[in-house]
Amino acid sequence: MKLTISCIKADVGSIGGHTKPSERMMDAVREEVASAIEKGLIIDGWISYTGDDIAILMSHTRGEDDVDVHQFAWDTFIKATEIAREYGLYGAGQDLLVDAPSGNVRGAGPAVAEIEMDHTLEAPRPAESFMLFAADKCGPGAYNLPIFLGFADPMYCGGLMLPQMIKGFTFHVIDMDNTGGDSIIELNAPEDYYQITALLRDNERFGIDGIYSRTTGQRAVSVSAQRLHSIAGVYTGKDDPIALVRNQGIFPAPEEVISTFTKAHFVGGDARGSHVMPIMPVPLNTPVTGPYCLPLVSAAGFSVNRDGMFSDSYIDFFDNPVWDEVRAHAQRKGIDMRSQGWSGAAMLPYSELEYGGFRDTVTGLVDRFSFKNGARAGVPADDN
Ligand code: 13P
Ligand code: MG
Ligand code: MG
Repeated sequence: MKLTISCIKADVGSIGGHTKPSERMMDAVREEVASAIEKGLIIDGWISYTGDDIAILMSHTRGEDDVDVHQFAWDTFIKATEIAREYGLYGAGQDLLVDAPSGNVRGAGPAVAEIEMDHTLEAPRPAESFMLFAADKCGPGAYNLPIFLGFADPMYCGGLMLPQMIKGFTFHVIDMDNTGGDSIIELNAPEDYYQITALLRDNERFGIDGIYSRTTGQRAVSVSAQRLHSIAGVYTGKDDPIALVRNQGIFPAPEEVISTFTKAHFVGGDARGSHVMPIMPVPLNTPVTGPYCLPLVSAAGFSVNRDGMFSDSYIDFFDNPVWDEVRAHAQRKGIDMRSQGWSGAAMLPYSELEYGGFRDTVTGLVDRFSFKNGARAGVPADDN
């Protein structure tokens, strides 16, 4: 059968500030998912939160961008928003940026990652396993470095030297500044390695949209690369991207992908979406409570049976003592960066400051500059 894995994620309210959704909100989302399975809209479903974002993971046979599946996720987030409003939670409905989405929630605020696949459980995929990454308090390109390395660099993915992967992968990179639509360039690793890095180094503008096997053509990765502030025009929260990553066999093994997260690399985000801080791998359902609000990333793993049902339980990849070492490393990097407060590299450049208010403050001051001879800057000499 053709099976689609969809994950749709949104921040629709959280307790005591931007920390985590409430239990009542999670219960409501869980009930809606159970009822969608009962009605046959989806085959299986699972929910989690990472920081203040709720992720709904679904399997179904309706294909990508399905109106009913997207509408279901939207309606479910509306229900959770109503609970958030009732209890006075922070940021109720924050990521629901339009009154009603026109068929598809892409561009309406929630993050979407979807992969449609041939699901036969025969070679080259005798078993289907995948991971869901969810990140909070960070920008859209947060996965650029770790997922690129996991699929293009044998220093992290030794499997790239095996016959089933040695041809490499095709990267679809999206230009998130182009708000007219999804503008994509296709580049091949290994031969376009340097061109890909020339784009992916800019986490705020370019992002991995998808990765495809050059051996089988199958899609391995889908990332919800978009920029909330390009969509909304004003700051409405960080993008907090999600990613679906199929693993094993013709794709990298889980350890080959997650080993790249040991870097706790610096990403844009953190407090007021305007700083540069390391991303910390955390267990599922971790609230944001640290000093500042360090960007977080979770990773859940699933298998899928013949009928498209998820395994009866899941793996929480970052819920393991080995990751405590990385968490301490991330925290140390974070403290070092925060020690320089507002200076230089510690904050995002002017154009990327997510809180427009920072820009308003600077613009107000720029207007007051004058030359030392008394002439006003930016005003023609005759008018001075
Ligand atoms: P969220 O996008 O997770 O709500 O974070 C917003 C923010 O400004 C953090 O300080
Ligand atoms: Mg929030
Ligand atoms: Mg968030």
